[in-house]
Amino acid sequence: MINHHNNIVLIGFMGSGKTSVGTKLARAFSYQFLDTDALIEKRANKSIAQIFEEDGEEVFRQMEVEVLTELKESCYDTVISTGGGMPMRKEARELLKGMGTVILLRASKEVTLERLLGDTTRPLLAGEEMEEKVDRLLEERMPYYEESAHVVIETDHKSFYEIINDVEKIMKRA
Ligand code: S3P
Repeated sequence: MINHHNNIVLIGFMGSGKTSVGTKLARAFSYQFLDTDALIEKRANKSIAQIFEEDGEEVFRQMEVEVLTELKESCYDTVISTGGGMPMRKEARELLKGMGTVILLRASKEVTLERLLGDTTRPLLAGEEMEEKVDRLLEERMPYYEESAHVVIETDHKSFYEIINDVEKIMKRA
């Protein structure tokens, strides 16, 4: 497993728990925690929803690649949580693999939908027919998630404690 910088990089669909697992992981490992969405919002000085609305998805995707490029140069001993669409760009997939141990947090469609129900912060799921959108995006993205990940953790019915335990085992092997 490639881990040049000793980072743990979390990828996965919206609602897969990257941010909540990531903050707890960082505490458990005494690592720094960074979230690419939060970094982008800070840099642009607006919310993700505003970026999508005012600048469009392409601009957001470009910002994701820029942030990742910078993190690759500067980060070590860090848990990096990424936006759910990050692995969709080839450039991003290539960057991800060299940044640390890339872990895909995967949940079933049913659990994903449960977690996302009522969410109003994610522009790609806004409006009607959330289930169809989740279905289509999951299908489209899964191959890219799998291509980007060194390991997969199935998170359905797992507590944070169990997920952190899984990561500890993975990192011992890394
Ligand atoms: C996106 C996921 C979001 C955020 C943006 C786009 C996506 O992050 O980056 O709304 O394309 O799946 P989370 O996965 O943290 O929700």
